[in-house]
Amino acid sequence: MHKTVICPGSFDPVTLGHIDIITRASRMFDEIIVGVFVNSEKHPTFTIEERVDFLKRTVGDIPNIKVIACDGLLAECARDLGATAVVRGLRAVSDFEYEFQMALTNRKLNPELDTVFLASDSSFTYLSSSIVKNVAHHGGDITNFVPACIHDEVFNRLKTKGNK
Ligand code: PNS
Repeated sequence: MHKTVICPGSFDPVTLGHIDIITRASRMFDEIIVGVFVNSEKHPTFTIEERVDFLKRTVGDIPNIKVIACDGLLAECARDLGATAVVRGLRAVSDFEYEFQMALTNRKLNPELDTVFLASDSSFTYLSSSIVKNVAHHGGDITNFVPACIHDEVFNRLKTKGNK
């Protein structure tokens, strides 16, 4: 059976930790939709178009991965896109409570929708978009945190912001 899944997130900006989860998911499932969402609890640094562009430049060449901007509820987007599971990375126990709550909420809203958690690679457990922004804001080295093809653009934008 053809299995389509959605990897949702804010990706503000995408990190190597996100890429690890997305590429591993692409080896497990037939079709991966990377959904770039507006998270109403966060104020993004990068526009949704920029975040989609960063992801397309990084994983857009992988044949079974599609990157799109999504609006509204994840459970409804998944239904509209024909995705039957959500893939999320878990970095630490501290991620679990929020992720579990989201998984149960999404399943309540869309009973066909499962959530699959992938354990983060141990080399990325500390990494988050917020860490990237904080380090770059202070002019620190983010080479090991973000994909090489977007590094300069991300760094310069965040550094410039920090210098304003
Ligand atoms: O990368 P993030 O910020 O942890 O991703 C969170 C995201 C975007 C997956 C989550 O906020 C989300 O699903 N937003 C869409 C709105 C929604 O469905 N809300 C109800 C589920 S909590």
